[in-house]
Amino acid sequence: MKKLIIEGCKEISGTIKINGAKNSVVALIPASILTKGKCTITNVPDISDVRILLEMMKELGSEIVFENDTIIIDNKNVSNKPISEHYASKIRASYYFMGSLIGAYHKAEIAYPGGCVIGSRPIDYHIAAFKKMGVHIEEKDSQYTLNVDNLKGCEFYLDFPSVGATINIMLSSVLAEGKTIIENAAKEPEIANVATFLNSMGARVFGAGTSTITIEGVSKLSDGFVETIPDRIEAGTYLIIGALIGNNLKIENVIKEHLLALLCKLKEAGIEYQSTVNSITISKSEKIKAVNVKTSVFPGFPTDLGQPMSALLTQCEGESLFEETIYENRLRHVPHLNSMGANIKAFDNKAIIKGRTPLHGRKVKATDLRAGASMVVAGLIAEGTTEVYNIEHLLRGYERIVDKLSEVGVNIKLIDDEK
Ligand code: EPU
Repeated sequence: MKKLIIEGCKEISGTIKINGAKNSVVALIPASILTKGKCTITNVPDISDVRILLEMMKELGSEIVFENDTIIIDNKNVSNKPISEHYASKIRASYYFMGSLIGAYHKAEIAYPGGCVIGSRPIDYHIAAFKKMGVHIEEKDSQYTLNVDNLKGCEFYLDFPSVGATINIMLSSVLAEGKTIIENAAKEPEIANVATFLNSMGARVFGAGTSTITIEGVSKLSDGFVETIPDRIEAGTYLIIGALIGNNLKIENVIKEHLLALLCKLKEAGIEYQSTVNSITISKSEKIKAVNVKTSVFPGFPTDLGQPMSALLTQCEGESLFEETIYENRLRHVPHLNSMGANIKAFDNKAIIKGRTPLHGRKVKATDLRAGASMVVAGLIAEGTTEVYNIEHLLRGYERIVDKLSEVGVNIKLIDDEK
């Protein structure tokens, strides 16, 4: 089992470079299945979710070279094979193979997806959309079998702008017959990144990034190229850290427009930052004001930054109301923050956070990926030593987190008990 040992610290400075977005690249890699050509994906983070997806691709016959943040995928020998529970259950994004295999081969066999336990996370919109396109779906022994003769474009209205369903409909429809329209589509920047990739292969996807996406089916796709957008959640996590202990901490390789909800909240709390075209420099404030934070879909405050932000709210003067609106179970980190000295009352997906409370180093658990990030933030501001267990979750989403924090002055170590 891996754990992190963090010494709380007063100040850090230097530069942290942000990697490519996990939630983009986990869709870009399965999207490449739609072509037999060569695909180049740059700015790829070296995180465990990516490594698992590349193993899945190799199982299907892809030849892959992953060097210097760039993946070159050659799919000329790919054939459609079932994706077993061994792979599918390790990550959430395995569900993107449903869309790409059904698009490319009109057949997919895949076990249930995995991912963080932060809610029930059904995929009923994905399934309903595939069915509307003519796909026959059987569900047996924790596995889906999808089959279709004529894959037909359709019009869908999503009851909720789901990121996964929007991308999966795009993947399944680029090679379908006719036109597909997604209404109330998700507008997260990752959606536009996937559309850019598909269009580079010759797809005709219009309106990605708005709530109406139109896809005109084409008969074949060719080679593709895309640069993965910077990870706004990784950037946001380091900005939160900088707001607490930064001394001109520069967060580099960011797109500021993707971070506006967080930046507005930090400003409201009295935290100053300066930005250039691709960086944000942030310093701690002596006094941080309490602010209310409610997560929502893009461009609202991202649910994936809610847990790290709640650690910051423990250091605000006064009472903050935090509300999670996307997942039913994303407050499992709260008891761990309280064990470190926070004063948080959680109820009905809301939390009243009273600050400012000094935090103390304790043994805590990363109950999921972003809960792990929250524990790191708390450990950095706590007095003494914090041990964070179950950090396999954290390593799924943050490349070189130990090195990146060490390089700006944090005393942090990763211990692997299995070695
Ligand atoms: N939902 C349904 N039915 C569906 C699909 C979604 O009810 O068919 C519900 C979900 O249960 C959830 C809400 O809609 O309550 C939002 O789900 P969405 O589909 O947007 O999320 P996702 O595609 O499963 C991705 C990211 C998450 C991120 C969300 C929201 C990946 C692999 N995961 O999940 O990332 O929180 O979008 O931005 O891209 C993370 O990185 O920590 C993480 C959980």
